[in-house]
Amino acid sequence: MSETHLYPVSEETAKAAWVDNAKYLEMYEKSVSDPEGFWAEHGKRIDWMKPFTQVKDVTFTVPGVSIKWFHDGTLNASVNCLDRHLETRGDQTAIIWEGDDPADDAHITYRDLYIRTCKLANALRAKGVKKGDRVCIYMPMIPEAAVAMLACARIGAIHSVVFGGFSPDSLAGRIQDSECCAVITADEGLRGGRKVPLKANTDKALETCPSVSTVLVVRRTGGDVAMKDGRDVWYHEAVEGQPETCEPEEMNAEDPLFILYTSGSTGKPKGVLHSTGGYMVYTSMTHQYVFDYKDGEVYWCTADVGWVTGHSYIVYGPLANGAVTLMFEGVPNYPTTSRFWEVCDKHKVSIFYTAPTAIRALMRDGEEPVKKTSRASLRLLGSVGEPINPEAWEWYHRVVGEHRCPIVDTWWQTETGGILITPLPGATDLKPGSATRPFFGVKPLIVDSEGGPLEGACEGNLCIAESWPGQMRTVYGDHARFEQTYFSTYKGLYFTGDGCRRDADGYYWITGRVDDVINVSGHRMGTAEVESALVAHSKVAEAAVVGYPHDIKGQGIYAYVTLVAGEEPTEELRKELVQWVRKEIGPIASPDVIQWAPGLPKTRSGKIMRRILRKIAENDFGALGDTSTLADPGVVDDLIDNRPAT
Ligand code: PRX
Repeated sequence: MSETHLYPVSEETAKAAWVDNAKYLEMYEKSVSDPEGFWAEHGKRIDWMKPFTQVKDVTFTVPGVSIKWFHDGTLNASVNCLDRHLETRGDQTAIIWEGDDPADDAHITYRDLYIRTCKLANALRAKGVKKGDRVCIYMPMIPEAAVAMLACARIGAIHSVVFGGFSPDSLAGRIQDSECCAVITADEGLRGGRKVPLKANTDKALETCPSVSTVLVVRRTGGDVAMKDGRDVWYHEAVEGQPETCEPEEMNAEDPLFILYTSGSTGKPKGVLHSTGGYMVYTSMTHQYVFDYKDGEVYWCTADVGWVTGHSYIVYGPLANGAVTLMFEGVPNYPTTSRFWEVCDKHKVSIFYTAPTAIRALMRDGEEPVKKTSRASLRLLGSVGEPINPEAWEWYHRVVGEHRCPIVDTWWQTETGGILITPLPGATDLKPGSATRPFFGVKPLIVDSEGGPLEGACEGNLCIAESWPGQMRTVYGDHARFEQTYFSTYKGLYFTGDGCRRDADGYYWITGRVDDVINVSGHRMGTAEVESALVAHSKVAEAAVVGYPHDIKGQGIYAYVTLVAGEEPTEELRKELVQWVRKEIGPIASPDVIQWAPGLPKTRSGKIMRRILRKIAENDFGALGDTSTLADPGVVDDLIDNRPAT
């Protein structure tokens, strides 16, 4: 990783930005030396029904981890995203929707969005949904997805958005865990010209979800779907005739806003729970400063609302700031690989935020599809979801941004609610591949494997020493798991699960996960989940899954599979297993490589030596380390000899 390239902030950018370097240093210093004072001031950036007088009440000690911010204040998130803009910008566009088909688009004003939200909120209330109830949202990237989130927020229902690419089984698991009473979905989704059977998947999932009594179905494609009497209602019929205003529920700052399931290193996905006040303060503040957002600019985050990036930086942060946020239904290479840049030109996008995997995939097609577009409106680029390799960073900067646009490489997690380590465009000199410096109030700490804090230039495990308002509050229904996962590895610290290096300039370089989570195209995947999907197949006796470097995806999924005695490893079975995992979890979990493994390397106590499996998957046979403690060292040679080409 070269550190020689430095891209200094231009004077012009610094001058025009909310924050230049001097201001960053001053604000950062205040934020960590007097967090109470700092956040008391910035907590006022959102509208409170009852203003807070308490700022922070946090303990990171196990047992008894407790995180509260602004906890005697009350507010409503949808009021912050809608009502408070009506007077000043009711007729301004809130959401630009760009459909999968380039001929399909729509502009929705703040007033339209307000009315649509109120109508749906009333419809939900009419169905008996009330404060504290969980509502699952399983939707394509259409405006109704944002409306559904805001409508839940308005009535105090806790939404749980499930990515539309997840299988019926994955959907069912999430609905069951939080006992949702309703699902909002669509007949079908549309991505890259292909239909996604959302309603059919929902029907399948609901066979095992007795808690759900209502399903609202948006008509997106008009495809033929079954409607179950007494349970399923067309969305347009449910909202028809509902009043255009809806009394918002007054929520405590610490009342839950949403649950979002994410993979960990063990077991089933965890329901990450975010609360209302701190989350709104933190997402709106980071959206303003990190993207240096100015009134009227068109801002585009290409994520899906099924991920936290969509929650914080398509919906809540931008709308709280009265921004114009673009929502894209499609994919980067449909109809052509110029699509992203054509959309930038069509809607005059100023700020463009995407994932390294998309950049790498587009790089493969060369510069021509980019260069034939203008991109004159772009002034800032962003990256999120995984480490961006310096080559991809340079290409993004040179080809897409024509050296004109700073890149903000934003490091954060579902758990953090918002961006924690990032450049600020007017303040931070950039180094390709580095997420650079902490945001206000964030105290990163790099520790060694014993938890000892490391000083200066160093490499180790990334922890955060103090709370920030956007932090998750618990794992839904399992506070012990929350404490265990994040606060028990290193005493008194939030452990991120990421490895990190700090250079001599104090810049942070995320090196990737240090646990059994892999990052495939910016999507988080627990290797344990893929393993349990594989062993659920009748012909599989045992499976071990690891990540390996993949040119486009960042990491690919490498599965070692031991078949039950008597089963033959055939090409047909390999394909069948790939399909099986797609069906069990979803297409994002498809194994890239399946290696037949007559045996797996295990210790004498039966523990699979993943370190060795990782090295073989990485094609790095020289660094296998000590294999003498294995029960049967011979299996390693066999795996090396039979490693398929990747
Ligand atoms: O490993 C880090 C990686 O993505 C993980 C979080 O994944 P998720 O909760 O799905 O959230 C993704 C969107 C915020 C982190 O633990 N990650 C995220 N952003 C970066 C990153 N790694 C390096 N650089 C980033 N900018």
